[in-house]
Amino acid sequence: MRTVDAPLALRGLLIGTASAATQIEGGDRNNSWYEWAESPGNVADGSSPVRADGHWLRWREDNALMAELGYPIARIGLEWSRIEPRPGEFDHAALDRYREELGDLVDRGIRPLVTLHHFSNPLWLQHAGQWTNLGAVGAFERYTRVAVGALRDIVDEWVTINEPNVYATQAHLFREAPPGNVSVRDLRFVLRHMAMGHLRAYEAIHELQPEATVTIAHHLREFAPRNPRNPVHRLFTRFDSWAFQDMLTDAFGRGVFPWVLGRSPVPAGRYVDVIGLNYYSRTAVSGPADGVFPGVPVTDLGWEVYPQGLVDCAARLHAHLGVPVWITENGTADNGDDERLERFRPRFLVDHLAAILRSKVPIERYYHWCFVDNWEWSEGEVPRFGVVHNDYETQRRTVKPSARMLSEIIRAGALTPEIEDRYAAGLEYPTR
Ligand code: BGC
Repeated sequence: MRTVDAPLALRGLLIGTASAATQIEGGDRNNSWYEWAESPGNVADGSSPVRADGHWLRWREDNALMAELGYPIARIGLEWSRIEPRPGEFDHAALDRYREELGDLVDRGIRPLVTLHHFSNPLWLQHAGQWTNLGAVGAFERYTRVAVGALRDIVDEWVTINEPNVYATQAHLFREAPPGNVSVRDLRFVLRHMAMGHLRAYEAIHELQPEATVTIAHHLREFAPRNPRNPVHRLFTRFDSWAFQDMLTDAFGRGVFPWVLGRSPVPAGRYVDVIGLNYYSRTAVSGPADGVFPGVPVTDLGWEVYPQGLVDCAARLHAHLGVPVWITENGTADNGDDERLERFRPRFLVDHLAAILRSKVPIERYYHWCFVDNWEWSEGEVPRFGVVHNDYETQRRTVKPSARMLSEIIRAGALTPEIEDRYAAGLEYPTR
């Protein structure tokens, strides 16, 4: 099976990788995920983000590798708890350390897109009720001002908050993230406060840096009725899509709050300069729980591989908000087998990039998740998402074929049949 029979030009699409502080840095014990991982049962393999990739100490090596691969862009996260270890107290050594890392990326010709909040909170905020507490909004604005103020001569592209919907549902519905309760009330407060936090941060960043590009990284899934003729499946499909994502597109992107989130603090407008899309999979809907269509290709975590969904979600976001789309995350768990570090990731990349390059949606960036294998939250160290392998015992990095494939695509300025043949020929997805 071949996806590409003639070169598909990148036409300005920039390609790189994405990561998040807590999932790669290691060493920090002052964040909510460190504490959560300390309680047995919360993380499948018992691992902790205190190890991860040791990137906090090895960032030079990782930056050098990325430069060697020729990637022009990178999405990188800041750990709030390092920068503001106690409320209102800022650690300038931590900020200097981030300046060094980000400055080094820029010197190597790699343009950073920096995430301010990606799932983890400083412990002082977590213990004060994290984002259920209205105080989180002002605290986030204060931290944003300090971080952006310190880095604005190096960075001018920002993601304020990563995946508010995933954060809120994992923390307050699915018990897969701290504090792990089930409370619709908490869930609504978190979403309301995160939207307020984003709107304030959007304004604050533009005040400090008028030319900045600011967005959220919005997690969208493609929802489809498991049986399109079943009215219950159709109804839940519409509801899931609205509740999980569409209402948030309005709240964060346009300042228009649905009734469940209460009154908006701002007039309707546009509060993103581009829209960041994190896309992974499609959900077959037959009721409130997530499902997968039978017989479809899946990743090592059982998520359906459905490249067209990326383009469809991007098209909807663009139509709704009128701004270009940046794919701030897309990727797959692929743990390889006895002989190979990866079994199907190159195919996954070819199929998703081909869908993007064939579409008419203005997609300007593609950040593949992840660079080096990352600590995968409640799944721990087991699922491997990186284009670079990490041996967690020795912290030795090994470049996987997909990392090289991305280099070749970037160098060629196109996804070509030759590149597909060289890397993806014969690779097949697992099926369900
Ligand atoms: C998150 C990442 C995570 C990835 C893969 C996204 O929802 O932003 O932190 O590692 O999915 O599960």
